[in-house]
Amino acid sequence: YVEGTDDYDHPGATINNMRLLDAIVKKCGFRPDHIKSPQTKASEVIHELEEERDLDVKPRPPPKPSELVPRCPIVTVMGHVDHGKTTLLDALRNTSVVEQEFGGITQHIGAFSVKLSNSTQTVTFLDTPGHAAFSAMRSRGAHVTDIVVLVVAAEDGVMEQTKESIRYANEAKVPIIVAINKCDKPEANIPNTKKGLWTQGIALEEFGGEVQSVCISALKKTGLDTLVETILTQAELMQLKADPKGLVEGVVVEARTDPARGRLCTAIIQRGTLRKGSFLVAGRAWARVRGMFNEQGQVIDEAPPGVPAEIIGWRELPSAGDLILECETETKALQAVRYREQQDMKKKMEIDEIAIQQKMEEHL
Ligand code: GTP
Ligand code: MG
Repeated sequence: YVEGTDDYDHPGATINNMRLLDAIVKKCGFRPDHIKSPQTKASEVIHELEEERDLDVKPRPPPKPSELVPRCPIVTVMGHVDHGKTTLLDALRNTSVVEQEFGGITQHIGAFSVKLSNSTQTVTFLDTPGHAAFSAMRSRGAHVTDIVVLVVAAEDGVMEQTKESIRYANEAKVPIIVAINKCDKPEANIPNTKKGLWTQGIALEEFGGEVQSVCISALKKTGLDTLVETILTQAELMQLKADPKGLVEGVVVEARTDPARGRLCTAIIQRGTLRKGSFLVAGRAWARVRGMFNEQGQVIDEAPPGVPAEIIGWRELPSAGDLILECETETKALQAVRYREQQDMKKKMEIDEIAIQQKMEEHL
């Protein structure tokens, strides 16, 4: 089978050639974790894949370009502790045209959208908990962010977590926009901050690179319009699109238990349009969507791609970074969760077995 024959149960058809393995992984959907040892038979992996296809739920094949429609950009705000990320997000929230009452209850949400006052453009921002989710997503290979806004306080310049954020953004291949914050402070040293960024490999525009920086004061709300304009220009360049039809795919930004509403998660839908009554699977958790809310706690009927939504109806709590996949039926969702539990158990047993074997060998 591996070498072009259909006799994949032949005793010689083991996968012990790394180059061949690479080709198989790419071509047949084998993953490196399918190959347990050089003696693993192709037939065993195929059996596993078939089981996975039948019992688990998987993302759909990529959409055709004709199925794509424009979607709003998803922006993660990152930076060092106390450099003003939350203040910036609060300021942006206030500049939002959606100036309705918060009903006295300020919802904590990992993501929110801002509608610009002079256009119909909306930007989705991921809040600080989104920061934690960002690394979780990275490790799971789920990319939800289009742009990183790197907040650097002009009084401190580049600090440890600034460098970390730059690393995250680079690894995820996400473009950075620098927001030099606290420019209202007398101690603000903008040239020094820019120099520090340049040292960290941020090719700022004024030094001949293509990274834009904007001087702002999140507290005094200055420079915010320019920052948002810069974000929109970057987003326009990226021509962000998504497929709003079919079974939903998304990512969990954060999850928690609310005393009144039960288990809920903030999610960003990436494909399809989420509606009440849908069955979802995320990691080993599943839900029958009982309702959805926007960042102001208002009920929404549907969540299209790019828009954050709080989803209630989870039977267990999913984790930040989990991929959300819609199932056609409750049975399918339950089956997928059960299959994933079994797989996890199997993996755990294999790890335990290896550990025991190693211990025994040490004894001998
Ligand atoms: P963590 O969530 O702890 O990482 O901090 P953060 O980056 O969210 O910073 P936060 O917004 O909480 O701001 C920290 C402090 O800096 C607060 O006391 C803010 O009032 C202050 N601050 C934020 N932005 C500005 C600004 O533009 N100018 C001045 N003068 N102070 C600011
Ligand atoms: Mg904060």
